[in-house]
Amino acid sequence: MDRLVIEGGVRLAGEVAVSGAKNATLPILTAALLTAEPLTVSNVPHLRDVTTMLNLLAQMGVAVSMDERLGVELTAARIAEPVAPYELVKTMRASVLVLGPLTARCGEARVSLPGGCAIGLRPVDQHLKGLQAMGAEVAIEHGYISVRAKRLKGARIRMDLVTVTGTENIMMAATLADGTTVIENAAREPEVVDLAHCLNAMGARVQGAGSDVITIEGADRLHGARYRVMPDRIETGTFLVAAAATGGSIRLTGARPDVLDAVREKLREPGAHVTTGPDWIALETNGALSAVNVRTAPYPGFPTDMQAQFMALDSIARGTALVTETVFENRFMHVQELKRLGADIEVEGNNAVVKGVAHLDGATVMATDLRASASLVLAGLIARGTTTVDRVYHLDRGYERIEEKLSKLGARIRRVR
Ligand code: UD1
Repeated sequence: MDRLVIEGGVRLAGEVAVSGAKNATLPILTAALLTAEPLTVSNVPHLRDVTTMLNLLAQMGVAVSMDERLGVELTAARIAEPVAPYELVKTMRASVLVLGPLTARCGEARVSLPGGCAIGLRPVDQHLKGLQAMGAEVAIEHGYISVRAKRLKGARIRMDLVTVTGTENIMMAATLADGTTVIENAAREPEVVDLAHCLNAMGARVQGAGSDVITIEGADRLHGARYRVMPDRIETGTFLVAAAATGGSIRLTGARPDVLDAVREKLREPGAHVTTGPDWIALETNGALSAVNVRTAPYPGFPTDMQAQFMALDSIARGTALVTETVFENRFMHVQELKRLGADIEVEGNNAVVKGVAHLDGATVMATDLRASASLVLAGLIARGTTTVDRVYHLDRGYERIEEKLSKLGARIRRVR
């Protein structure tokens, strides 16, 4: 199992390019199931979750080919088996994204109940409720979700809570439904918008993505398209925090500053200097940062996927910060590990009180989920001495060549196999 060994205490400086967004790529790849014609997706990040999704689609009979420039062509001429087996779904919860497209295209789907990150219960009831409202029959049997529908019918669906993949599943299913579907209380995440743009390029009629009401007029068929995935806002945010935490100065190219308002604000508040252009973001620091409170919320609020990284930053900031997690129930697993590096953090329910300490000290820590791993790498960059981050496979699910990119910025980090 790979581990990362980090010698802390280096100020990050320089320029790196942002990769394509994992959370936009995954639903966009599953959109290929909606048409018999080729969907060509570019700017696809080289990540373990992407490989898992491609394996899942290939297993269903989708023809997958790749070029060297991170382009993927998918052709779902025939779907042999509309099934997502446990072995693949357990390693990646986002596999549930095949449910909507398969039901719409094949009239049936069998998807194992998801596993994935260990961050709370993460049920899929809203996905199922949406499909049922569109006329699908849903059953849970032997650990699998079975869905059947001759042809889905347009419906008005009000989500009980904001769910990103839930919104995406229903949106994709509705593109081939009979009539118009309206999703109320829809997720407004930029990745939902990116998926809507891709679907529209395939001939779908999706309106309102980015607002909390999305309207989809069903079509008889969709066609092939070429689509370029948006840049990863969480990777961008993670590198910005890495620079802020090490007192550094970086510039990220190929970025989307317009989808990072909440994160930029939370970096400015404690004293970092953030500047932006149409497709770049730069950050400079001027001395130690002060503690910053964060409260996670659906977009455009502060992203839960950035919470752990800010906790690493707060652990060495001046003063005390309150970090509140409102999206997931069990997303403080990084706290125990940060404490092993010397952080002073108390958790009560969904609140964490982080008292800034003068320095962290390197130790061996273990990654428990994707974003928790990122916070441990950041902590390792800040800490005095050597930090070893174990179980890096979590990190490889969502960060492309993280050690290469950090090395380019001057970090002393290496992967040990
Ligand atoms: C997506 C992102 C993930 C991010 C999360 C929140 C992808 C592939 N993953 O995950 O990185 O952390 O959004 O921004 O895009 N819930 C229910 N019932 C449902 C669906 C969700 O109760 O049917 C709850 C979940 O348990 C959770 C909350 O709603 O507490 C938000 O989850 P959701 O937005 O669905 O997260 P994902 O789409 O899985």
